[in-house]
Formats: sequence, structure tokens, C-alpha cells
Amino acid sequence: MTGDSKTSGHSLWGGRFSAKPDALMQAINVSIGFDKRLAGEDIAGSRAHAAMLAKAGILSAADAAAIAGGLDKIEHEIAAGSFPFRDEFEDIHMNVEARLGEIIGAASGRLHTARSRNDQVALDFRLWVRSACDRTVEQLIALQRALVAKAADNADTLMPGFTHLQAAQPVTFGHHLMAYVEMFGRDAGRFADARARMNESPLGSAALAGTSFPIDRHMSAQALGFDGPMANSLDGVSDRDFALEALSAANLCAIHLSRLAEEIVLWTTPQFNFIRLSDAFTTGSSIMPQKKNPDAAELIRAKIGRIMGGLTSLTLVMKGLPLAYGKDMQEDKVPTFEAFDALELALLAMTGMIEDLQPNKPAMAAAAGAGFATATDLADWLVRTLNIPFREAHHLTGAAVKRAEALGLDLADLPIAELKALDGRITEDVYGVLTPAASAASRTSYGGTAPDQVRAQVARWQEILR
Ligand code: ARG
Repeated sequence: MTGDSKTSGHSLWGGRFSAKPDALMQAINVSIGFDKRLAGEDIAGSRAHAAMLAKAGILSAADAAAIAGGLDKIEHEIAAGSFPFRDEFEDIHMNVEARLGEIIGAASGRLHTARSRNDQVALDFRLWVRSACDRTVEQLIALQRALVAKAADNADTLMPGFTHLQAAQPVTFGHHLMAYVEMFGRDAGRFADARARMNESPLGSAALAGTSFPIDRHMSAQALGFDGPMANSLDGVSDRDFALEALSAANLCAIHLSRLAEEIVLWTTPQFNFIRLSDAFTTGSSIMPQKKNPDAAELIRAKIGRIMGGLTSLTLVMKGLPLAYGKDMQEDKVPTFEAFDALELALLAMTGMIEDLQPNKPAMAAAAGAGFATATDLADWLVRTLNIPFREAHHLTGAAVKRAEALGLDLADLPIAELKALDGRITEDVYGVLTPAASAASRTSYGGTAPDQVRAQVARWQEILR
């Protein structure tokens, strides 16, 4: 370490400085408190960079070996919790480099040849977001497996299907759960798409313009699992669209999670009473002894605040920034870390809750038959059997519902005489479609709620998720 470190206050960039930074400058500038999470990525990037420098003849074999050994030691210190993270070295990049200097001496100063913190941080952050996407896909797959297993057990479990949160037509619980399997499948696809697009290496962009050293960007890119190097050094150091894209996918996923969470909240109320959660996924009230609250579902429902907050926050950081690097971009990390932490916890807790929940089949079946939910089936029967135009059948059925309501009966319990009064051609056969089970079983169109259709989709997803 050279330079006037006593007066400049910064041994790594203080050459032209003669005074220490103000305490407030230090406070606003320092990022080690949060970017220490990039330690693993920073070491991986330095390893790949040093190996490439050595191969290109820019770094001697001896210096490369010393650097590699020092990085190994630092990795162990970090794993052991003994690495000294120091505010005076600002960020993770300079903390690692300073420690490397303490461990191996002067050779450490050669690691930063043909590199800048600008491409270094772009690389580290990209590697972090790439792993976050991979982890999220795994977590989504685990959630989908839990949903598919529950759906397989409930392919014939009847429940009301809703529109406007009013009972609409009977569906099966398995069908309802499988709807979320589709949504989470698209979410996983979005993370995979984002990953594929972000999988180019910014390393070697240097500060912004590239470097005069004969580096091999293809080699370092390959060592870090990238498809290749980014083709424009200005772009390499200055865009964070990869993080925004991942956060957008996280935001959509959080919307899906919040809808399922909201349904769990509704279904566990005594008013719905469709499902039960065990003590493992509920909490009690400190004052009302009868209560079992679905706190995990409520918190999942709320996590979108942090996730969309992260997306919004980084969007505003990036908007209108001139090329290339600006320190504004240091503000990319906290919102991204927080959003993915929230998403991870929400996905894991949702998976646990899905495995835990048990349907209250009698209550669901009773609700499936309530509210004249098979009225559409009566109308369809009139169309199919008597060749009555659908609009007219709709009108006749409305009259039947009105009559049943006046008599305090379900449609299936309406005497045949009442039905014949509406149209003399109606026969006893009609009762075959008026029960919720018959209604659900008749919905055999592709993707429909009939138990056989649900079982077919369960089998398809079991194959995909194997
Ligand atoms: N801590 C910085 C960040 O997160 C690293 C890059 C700093 N580059 C610079 N030229 N000051 O963005």
C-alpha cells in the first residue's frame, strides 16, 4: 500500500487527497453495512479476474498464486465470522482488497489491474441477482409441488367457485389450487427468462471505457458461468435492468402470493370455515382465547409492500441517470436484498401453510350447493335437452331460482311440478345436473373443473416438477 495514507485517510484511493473526509461524507458514502452480502460474489469475481490476468501474462504466476491463496484465506475468515468488516474501507470491494494486502502484502495491489470498482460492483451484484433468481425458482418449484400434492388429494373435493366473491358455480378444491400452480409456473418462467437475459459478464468493462491491457473477457466470463461478456463497456457498468427485471418478476409473484394468502385468510374464518390450519401456522390472541389467527397468511399478503417497494425504489434510482456509473447506483442493493428476503420468506411460509392446511370437506360441499350455484347447469340442460335458446333458458332458470327462493328450497329440491309449471317438457332427468357434484363433473372441457380434468393437470404438473 503506497500513498500518503496518514493524511489522506484513505489508503486505497487517497493519492491526491490531503485531508480526511468529513464524518457525514463517510456516513453517507459507506456501504459495507449492506454490501458485505456480496462478499462471496466479490471473491469469485476476483478469482476469475486474477486467473485471467495471469493467463494473459499481465500478472506473474507467483503473484497470481499469492492472490489466490489470500482470497482463499479471506473466504475462510468470512465463513468463520472472523473477517474484519471495516467502515474505513467503505465497501466490500475495498474491504477485501485491504485485507488481501494485510495477508499477502504488495502483490495484492496488482489484483485491481484492468479493473475498476465500477465493473467489479456491476459483476458482484449481477452474480447475486442471478443466484437469487435461481433460488426463487427452486422455492417456487417446492411451492408448486405442495400445491399439486394437495390438489391430487382434493380432485373431487367440492367447493363454490366465486365471481365477485359471490358463489358462482361449483368447482373442485383441486381445480382451485391448480390455478395457482399455473400462476407460480409463469412466475418461475419469468425468473428463468430474466436470468437468461442477465447472463452476460460486465467484468472487463473497467471504469467505463474498457482497458488498454490485453485482457480476455471471454475467459473470465466463462469462469463465472456467463454466456459471454457484455458487448458494450458503458452499458456494462451503468445498467441495472437485470435487477429491475428480477424485481418485476418478484412483484408479479408477490401479487399471486397475496391473492392465495387472502383466500387462506378468508377460508379460515368461522364464516367460511373451508380450511383449517394447525397450531403450527396460526397464533393465538392475548385477550380472546377462542381465536386462531392466520398471521403467516396475513404477513405474506403484506410482503408485497417491501417487494413492490424495492421495485419502485430502484426504478427511481435509475430513472434519468446519465451514463455511465453514478454513485446513485450504490442504492441498488438494499431494495433488491430486502425484496428478495421478503419473497423468500413468503414463498417458504406459503409452502409450509399449503402442506399444513386441511379442507373441511362437509362445509365446502354444503357451500358448493348453496346460493343456487347449479343454476347455469339447469339453463344448459334446457338448451341441450329441449333445444331452447340460451337466453330463453337463462330467463326460465331465473324464474326457477325465484320460485325455489320463495319456497326456501335449493334448486335440486324443487318438486318436478314446480319445474313443469315453467316448461311442461322438463322431466325428472333434470335432477341429474342439479347437484354440485354433477355440475362439477360435467365441466369436462379442457382445463375445466371436472375431477378427471383436474387429475389430468395434476399428472401433467407432476411430470414437469419431477
Ligand atoms: N460501493 C460502490 C457501489 O455499490 C462500488 C462502486 C464504487 N465506484 C466508484 N467509482 N466510487 O456502487
